[in-house]
Amino acid sequence: MNPGLARALRFMGLNAVEKTGHEAIIVDEEGNQYIDCAGGYGVFVQGYQNSRIVERAHQQLDQLSLSSRVLLNRPMIALAEELARLTPGDLQYSFFCNSGAEAVEAALKFARIQTGRPRIISTYGAFHGKTLGALSVSGRDTYRQPFAPLLPDIIHVPYGDAQKVAEVMDDQVAAVIVEPIQGEGGVIVPPDEYLPALRGLCDQHGALLIADEVQTGIGRTGRLFAVEHSGVVPDLMCLAKALGGGVMPIGAVVGRPSAWTFFDSAPLIHTSTFGGNPLACAVAQEALRVTVEDDLPQRAATLGVTLLNGLKQLQGRFSRAITDVRGRGLMIGVEVPSAGVGGALISELFQRHVLAVYTLNNDRVIRMVPPLVITAAQIDQVLKVWEQALSAIEPMLDDLIEG
Ligand SMILES: Cc1ncc(COP(=O)(O)O)c(C=O)c1O
Repeated sequence: MNPGLARALRFMGLNAVEKTGHEAIIVDEEGNQYIDCAGGYGVFVQGYQNSRIVERAHQQLDQLSLSSRVLLNRPMIALAEELARLTPGDLQYSFFCNSGAEAVEAALKFARIQTGRPRIISTYGAFHGKTLGALSVSGRDTYRQPFAPLLPDIIHVPYGDAQKVAEVMDDQVAAVIVEPIQGEGGVIVPPDEYLPALRGLCDQHGALLIADEVQTGIGRTGRLFAVEHSGVVPDLMCLAKALGGGVMPIGAVVGRPSAWTFFDSAPLIHTSTFGGNPLACAVAQEALRVTVEDDLPQRAATLGVTLLNGLKQLQGRFSRAITDVRGRGLMIGVEVPSAGVGGALISELFQRHVLAVYTLNNDRVIRMVPPLVITAAQIDQVLKVWEQALSAIEPMLDDLIEG
């Protein structure tokens, strides 16, 4: 499929083929078990093959999987109602699609049509997906440059600094798009006042605030939605990944009524053949139910502190190999001095059956985004394996740092 990727995986010793999974564990064809801290880039909030979610999928599969697209379907209606209930403030309407990038594409179009303005403000280091529109608001040149020219009228500013947004904000701006915590940028947690300040600027200039919660959403950061940490209600919220419960792909844009009036006169202006299919919607509704009933956000908050503190202690002992540990809930980034150190650590972790990967826009950060159903004993095991991996690379550290 992708010989270059195959070579890279082989070079790092990542040569196993996955076969099945349960809770925080993925099992390869040889029967080896791995604690998954890569979590499908943050997908497996409710764990692999969560039995309630799989059961709901089986039921819906027997009844109706895809939609006629002419008639409505109950799972889609129920999911929209549930999202309206669970999302903050007056976020009320949902558009359903099949991935994070599609949710971002939709949100960008909604912002432009709703405001009648062209310009979007985004941030350096942002990751919003790899389709052309989503790529245009993403912030890493490596992925952008080969596809230029991208969408016009996109302005990038440094992340976490509302003043930089204020400097470019005017009445041509349709929206500011932002991740509440930058995931692929290297797990960057902004100052507490950042999102409220962006909300204020958008209100002042009649622009929409788009929160991309594709990675932070559905419990990962210790709240169901990461914007809840700051009490900010965005105009449009993008969801995907964990919304599918680790069983089905699904994406969604949830919007406030004031950001959704364009559909009144143009109901077919944005559509998706597979979006809102009953199978994915039934699964997503069950995924939300499991997340809330099992209080997975609280679990992320509590276990996140254990993992963060454990990694910080290791940073104290291995301060040349780990330069920073940061994050919120079970979204944690471990910064290393070079991509070489990161690669060696990922390989050592894998050999000891812990899966972890780089963040896509920052190869000096290894992300730790395990399923929220990971146990305290598994976190202890992960920390033990980190210690062994750090000890194993110590003799090679000078070479690895120099690259
Ligand atoms: C914040 C954010 N937005 C959008 C995306 C794109 O999602 P997908 O890969 O489902 O297109 C990602 C994927 O990592 C993401 O982290």
